[in-house]
Amino acid sequence: MIIQPHAATVLITGGAGYIGSHISFFLAQRGYDVVILDTLNHNQTVPLCFRQKVSHLPGTITLIKKDFADKQTLQTIFSKHVVQAVIHCAALIEVGDSVKNPRAFYRNNVVKTVQLLETMLEYNVKKIIFSSSCAVYGTPQYLPLTESHTKNPISPYGNNKYIIEMLLQDFHTAYDLEFVSLRYFNAAGAFPEQNLGEQHNPETHLIPLLLRAAYEKKPFYIFGTDYNTKDGTCIRDFLHVRDLVDAHHKALNHLIKKMPSDYFNLGTGHGYSVKECIDMVQRITGLEIKTIIKKRRAGDPPVLVANRSKAYNILDWKPHYSDLEYIIKTANQFYKIYAPKNSQPLQTNPQTR
Ligand code: UFG
Repeated sequence: MIIQPHAATVLITGGAGYIGSHISFFLAQRGYDVVILDTLNHNQTVPLCFRQKVSHLPGTITLIKKDFADKQTLQTIFSKHVVQAVIHCAALIEVGDSVKNPRAFYRNNVVKTVQLLETMLEYNVKKIIFSSSCAVYGTPQYLPLTESHTKNPISPYGNNKYIIEMLLQDFHTAYDLEFVSLRYFNAAGAFPEQNLGEQHNPETHLIPLLLRAAYEKKPFYIFGTDYNTKDGTCIRDFLHVRDLVDAHHKALNHLIKKMPSDYFNLGTGHGYSVKECIDMVQRITGLEIKTIIKKRRAGDPPVLVANRSKAYNILDWKPHYSDLEYIIKTANQFYKIYAPKNSQPLQTNPQTR
């Protein structure tokens, strides 16, 4: 296919994954030409919306099934397109896995990001939005977490994200790379009208696993009820993926307007416990969830809640869709149209996750 250079092309690594697919779709809706680099290794299927004709969108979506550090592919993309910015979502994401297999995490998340950045610089592509994580903070010393909180990650995954943030800062100083690092809290929810939603393989995230437990009548494992929280289970700050997408759009405008490179928390400032999520899923589905209490999962901080003032003050971003009930309703709608046909069996050995 011959692709004409376009002034507003964005390269999205991991753009067929849960968050990347939402970003890709919404940027194409806003007239951007999106090039996705994704191996599809971690997705059960290409998001449905990319398999349908998306010609009704003002922008285009081009999916290239390659690794995000594949030099030749990057060279081809950067030669053919005027890439305005890279949105770097591709990564191994499972905190528990990173504790057991740090080698793969450092190679994939850190080493390959250096390769990506080097090729970007070769082609003078100097704007990047990075999918960082609240995992950079480790166990909170105070709450809600501000961006200036000490960075003391407690998992290799968190270390990876923090190292990449330091890389970005150093490349900024030395080579004028401009970056926005977005520290996601717990992305959740779906956009079922567009056939977009959360679906990892294997699934390890709380809300899709709760839905699966409810519909498939399988037990749900609670990883720890002995935390120093109101009901003993972990507390997380859930952000609807639609709000997350908005933040990327605003971060992109921030870079285009040549505003300073920076780090931002993306969360709501409100936390819900695992037990509260279980109750909400039961209420929304009308189904009972059988729970089994397991020991704590390695790498899980007890509470993660964001102070989101900085993103509001500088990016003019605030969440609009992140009420827990709405998050779970949209996840439930997506589950009903999509997951039952494709879902994998629930994990049988939660201690190895
Ligand atoms: N949980 C269970 N049982 C499960 C799955 C999850 O009890 O079967 C609990 C977890 O222990 C945790 C909470 O539900 O307390 C949320 O777990 P998720 O796996 O859904 O999300 P995490 O908080 O572990 O992970 C998120 C992001 C990561 C990010 C991390 C920071 O997905 O990318 O927060 O710690 F790095």
